[in-house]
Amino acid sequence: MTTPAVLPHQPESALSDSSIQETITQMIDEMIGKLPDPQELTSAERRGIIARYSAVLEGNFIYWMTATLIATKAEGARPILLDNLYEETRDAHPHMMRKFAMAANAFPNDKDSLAVHEDLTNMRFFLGRLSGVQSLLTMAFFEGFIQKFMPFLAGLAAAEGSTEMEYTDVHGVCDIAHTAGLFRALALETSASPLDPAADIFEGVNLLRTLIDRIVYYRPELAAA
Ligand SMILES: [Fe+2]
Repeated sequence: MTTPAVLPHQPESALSDSSIQETITQMIDEMIGKLPDPQELTSAERRGIIARYSAVLEGNFIYWMTATLIATKAEGARPILLDNLYEETRDAHPHMMRKFAMAANAFPNDKDSLAVHEDLTNMRFFLGRLSGVQSLLTMAFFEGFIQKFMPFLAGLAAAEGSTEMEYTDVHGVCDIAHTAGLFRALALETSASPLDPAADIFEGVNLLRTLIDRIVYYRPELAAA
């Protein structure tokens, strides 16, 4: 497993909104660029990635977006998050996720859930601190990552013989607008309730990158050795 590069600490005041967005885009593109070719993975490796992704996303995405809403103080930012939650709930995205995993024979088992337990817990505690700016940046990164991750995830499922692609089709498109919305919300929150200049604005982003690396690169056979 590769460890994500941790950015040198930069106080928030030194980073403009556009440079933060550029950094996030760069991080995402780097992560997407080094993903393996689904065809070169074993069937067990493909199943494991879908299962761990699903173990994280199905039960946590709405929870984390809700935590971010609770943390956000800027009035103008809240409707953006509510719209996101509205769509997640109305269209039953957790069910879409579950259906996708089941169709690829990759419904998460106890080992899949436990493989991400520690890094998932770190994210839960981080979002539980209810730091608006940091949480919004983390979710903006997450939406942007998910959107670009969809072709890879669909490729894993297709290689496992699945044709159930509603989850990847929907998230490859709707998350473009969601990412832009979250960056707008971030700008509003930064003016309304700025982050302590001593804090690391990328703290949650880096925790999430670690969790995503765990999803993609964890290999149970190596862990058991
Ligand atoms: Fe979703």
